[in-house]
Amino acid sequence: MKIQIITLFPEMFDKVLNSSMLWKAQERAGVEYSLIDLREFGIGPRKQVDDPPYGGGDGMVLRPEPAVAAIEYAKKQDPSAVVYLPTPRGKTLKQSWVKQIAGSGEKGIIIFCPRYEGYDERITKWVDEQYSIGNYVLTGGELPAMILVDSVVRLLPGVLGGVTSAEKESFYEDDESIEHAQYTRPETFREMDVPDVLLSGHHANIEKWKSDNNG
Ligand code: ADE
Repeated sequence: MKIQIITLFPEMFDKVLNSSMLWKAQERAGVEYSLIDLREFGIGPRKQVDDPPYGGGDGMVLRPEPAVAAIEYAKKQDPSAVVYLPTPRGKTLKQSWVKQIAGSGEKGIIIFCPRYEGYDERITKWVDEQYSIGNYVLTGGELPAMILVDSVVRLLPGVLGGVTSAEKESFYEDDESIEHAQYTRPETFREMDVPDVLLSGHHANIEKWKSDNNG
């Protein structure tokens, strides 16, 4: 799966994509990351990407030309890829949607990260899906892009390997509850004991405890 991210701040992704499971996913699941610097598509010698909004208002708005040129460039690398735009106005990202994206096989992902106070609405004509990660406003689309990548990639076959089965985990479906509470050593920590049942070796009781003690 090809994952292309269009951003003014590619360096924000360095640590995230080069660590842990997202990094291993390249080898384990054929994930291919590509960071596209929106600035390179900027206008004129100063590579301008934004301008004040028509009608007045605070801040700057991303112009459509660099954004669309960058999306078209990414599409050329992967014509069947789906273009995502993180925005608080989008549809809330849920596990069922993430699962659908991960399950769509080889279909690549392009994420356009808006920045500043906004983007020219005409950009959305080149966007397939608009998603929100919750009812709060961030300074840009980079963190929501990382969240989409992380949540999708961990579901790709081979990524989590023998470590754990993603299918059994929390939020497998939106309406399933969070994974049960877990404990490890030591048995007693600052006068708090691990529940006896988990040390009992009684499989049926343990399973019952787990289902009684999830979120
Ligand atoms: N950009 C800024 N805030 C956002 C949010 N909550 N979800 C997705 N994109 C955003």
